[in-house]
Amino acid sequence: MGVAKVPGNSFGQAFKITTFGESHGKGIGVIIDGCPPRIPLLNKDFVWEMARRRPGRGPFDTPRMETDQVEILSGVFEGLTTGTPIALYIHNRDAQSKPYEILRELFRPGHADYTYFKKYGHFDFRGGGRSSARETAARVAAGVVARLVLEPLKITIMAYTLEMGGIRAVRIDPEAINRNPFYCPDTDMVDRMREMILKAKKEGDSIGGIVEVRINGCPAGLGEPVFDKLSADLAKAVMSVGAVKGIEIGAGFEAARLKGSQNNDPIIPAGFKTNLAGGILGGISNGDDIVLRVAIKPIPSIMKEQETIDRAGRPARLKLQGRFDTSAVPRIVPVLEAMVAIVLADHYLRSKYGQLIKQLNG
Ligand SMILES: Cc1cc2nc3c(=O)[nH]c(=O)nc-3n(C[C@H](O)[C@H](O)[C@H](O)COP(=O)(O)O)c2cc1C
Repeated sequence: MGVAKVPGNSFGQAFKITTFGESHGKGIGVIIDGCPPRIPLLNKDFVWEMARRRPGRGPFDTPRMETDQVEILSGVFEGLTTGTPIALYIHNRDAQSKPYEILRELFRPGHADYTYFKKYGHFDFRGGGRSSARETAARVAAGVVARLVLEPLKITIMAYTLEMGGIRAVRIDPEAINRNPFYCPDTDMVDRMREMILKAKKEGDSIGGIVEVRINGCPAGLGEPVFDKLSADLAKAVMSVGAVKGIEIGAGFEAARLKGSQNNDPIIPAGFKTNLAGGILGGISNGDDIVLRVAIKPIPSIMKEQETIDRAGRPARLKLQGRFDTSAVPRIVPVLEAMVAIVLADHYLRSKYGQLIKQLNG
């Protein structure tokens, strides 16, 4: 206990975000340093993305109802960014802490209570505190600003639920994604996903899944070898979101089973014939679509009784109360899009060849 630590609440170099706040504290927010000046930014710019992350899609989402209105505290004057730190704040309005009193003593299996206790000795356990997905609201807000930074590049970032509870989308129809509560790109699979998640909820259990992220229009040249490769920073950004257990780029783990002759994307004058690389070579974007797949574990807070220990190390049984999601999957979709936007904005601003890259790629 009480191990010396260097805090890890900031991410990025040229476009740097620092998030703060806990699930049941006064509020949460983010400070963005490095955003260029003269970018139009208003409170209303956050509404759409914040609504996509908010719960309320169905009985499988936590019943916690937050308005998630983003307040701009600094860095914007007369509707334009000024180049100074942008502070964004989101008030917590609907925290109900009483059901979490049991976590004063017992650790939830699969959650961060045990490790926060071991590391800090004292922490805000209410609603998961700092480890709660509530923190991801601040990331989504930062992602909105990142997308505005990226606007000159005309990049599109699209994430969707490829799989949930073992049900996999077959067709990828971008039009379908925002038309169902699971961000599923295959209309034919929506009812089956709904069935799986409602069944898990009824059983007091939870499910996981896979989210695919596709980035279209990213110019060749983003990424800073060797330690800040675009692939490495994307992996860090994605893995820093709670419940994420794995990431693949392009062919990913499947590449391990291929021969070089199968895995290499032939290069033709127009670009690449195939895209098993997933748009990144040597840690640098190659101009093709960047494709990521992200594995998400089932929500740890389940209603079934579980075996655990108390803070004194004595065996205990935990029967949880509280308001939880049945799956992180649909709600994580806008969070992953935001993290990807933050990485791309960071690399776009970092690259001293940013302008040149833009010209070279038209
Ligand atoms: C969008 C989203 C919603 C989540 N909702 C919950 C929830 O309601 N209850 C819960 O216990 N965990 C939830 N989680 C997962 C926890 O935040 C996560 O499992 C926990 O912080 C432990 O971290 P780890 O899973 O990365 O080890 C959610 C995660 C995300 C990304």
